[in-house]
Amino acid sequence: MKRCLSIAVAMIAASIATLPSRAEETGQAIYFGRADGLPAARIGTIAQRGLTCAGCHGRDAGGGGEGRSRIPAIHGAALGAATSVRPAYDAEGFHRALTEGHDSAGRTMSIAMPRFALSAAQADALWHFLGTIADRERAGVSANGVRIGVATTAGDRQATQRSLDDLSAAWKARGRPVLHGREVEFIAVAVDSLGPTSVDVASTPFLLVGPTLDRDGRTLALLQQAGLPVLAPQGSLTTDRLPAEVVSLRANEREVAAALLALAGPRTSIVADMLPQGEQTASLPVLTPDAPLPEETQRIVLLLGEAGLRSFAATHHSHLSGRTLVLPLSVVEAQPTLVGHLLAVATDVVAARPAGDALDMPAVAAALEAGLIAAGRNLTRTAFLEALRKTRQQSAGVEFVRIQR
Ligand code: HEC
Repeated sequence: MKRCLSIAVAMIAASIATLPSRAEETGQAIYFGRADGLPAARIGTIAQRGLTCAGCHGRDAGGGGEGRSRIPAIHGAALGAATSVRPAYDAEGFHRALTEGHDSAGRTMSIAMPRFALSAAQADALWHFLGTIADRERAGVSANGVRIGVATTAGDRQATQRSLDDLSAAWKARGRPVLHGREVEFIAVAVDSLGPTSVDVASTPFLLVGPTLDRDGRTLALLQQAGLPVLAPQGSLTTDRLPAEVVSLRANEREVAAALLALAGPRTSIVADMLPQGEQTASLPVLTPDAPLPEETQRIVLLLGEAGLRSFAATHHSHLSGRTLVLPLSVVEAQPTLVGHLLAVATDVVAARPAGDALDMPAVAAALEAGLIAAGRNLTRTAFLEALRKTRQQSAGVEFVRIQR
């Protein structure tokens, strides 16, 4: 029987709100380094902050690397099974491995595995989480289907329906309903109702399309807690600082900067204190914020952080009349007072931002298809995120806006 694309229109308001054990939730936070008050890891005698299990063993605890530097898999199935060199771990042995650095055979592990002074309760929470990680990785995936969530605003049924319709139409238009034996099903997910995910929830999506991320990071925290990968986030977060679970299809800060530099002509000066790596500057010199501007300069491309902008304003405030300032819109938004100060004297201010504020569903569908194909039949969230990152095409360009006084 040929099933076609099915679209669950029912708002699954509490789709992800379920009750995982506290321990799993705590374990997840420790694993990804998001828990408060964790002791620093130690390498030899040196305390080192910021080392996370996920950073070395991977988002899916699948390990990696080759030869001597091989990092072992530490998901529940791997630790719970004996290998040729060590017996299976139990919770206690796992705790010892973290604190003392002995594996389950009593061998002292190399210093490449830091020591973590975690309490028995913290180690236990990690142990529980690692036991569920494989299922979390496959949440929303079945033998013949994969469920993709579309973020919706609570209460707006029409907008919800439109998002679902647009995405499913864009998906159908690509003409490949089955990928690696799986059909894609789109469901509406109310972001406000997101809670920590439990792995056995039938309606958990594999990933979420288009949630709006707020500036204070509340939504992002919810999504991370739910373990949900995100494709094409909306909102004004700077796209260069997004965590690995969030893949944006919009131009990022580097791409915006490149577009600004491409504007540089003979009478342009580039003033920058943080030039994106590998960026060409059309053989124009790059000036520091307090350097004198060449007499003939008409247009000034500013790629400056706050301190640089302050210094530029202090040095050049009185020389800007008749000149045009060009800078990223994100800087204008982050420093409205400073930029306003410059705006009062410069003749013109032009800002660049990533094009396409609205969710571009054809681009989302294209990215989804590329990611699903590249991730293969053995579909996990981690494999999909890696595939997405490799296949991500820069569909969105950069657009310019004139800032009014
Ligand atoms: C800097 C990289 C790094 C970090 C961070 C790290 N590990 Fe490891 N881990 C390793 C390496 C490398 C090994 C293999 C060491 C050896 O066998 O000598 C290892 C081994 C292990 C083992 C033993 C696996 C086995 O099969 O015997 C466990 C368990 C483990 N790590 C858990 C964790 C946990 C939990 C965290 C976070 C609290 C963590 N690791 C953080 C690199 C890391």
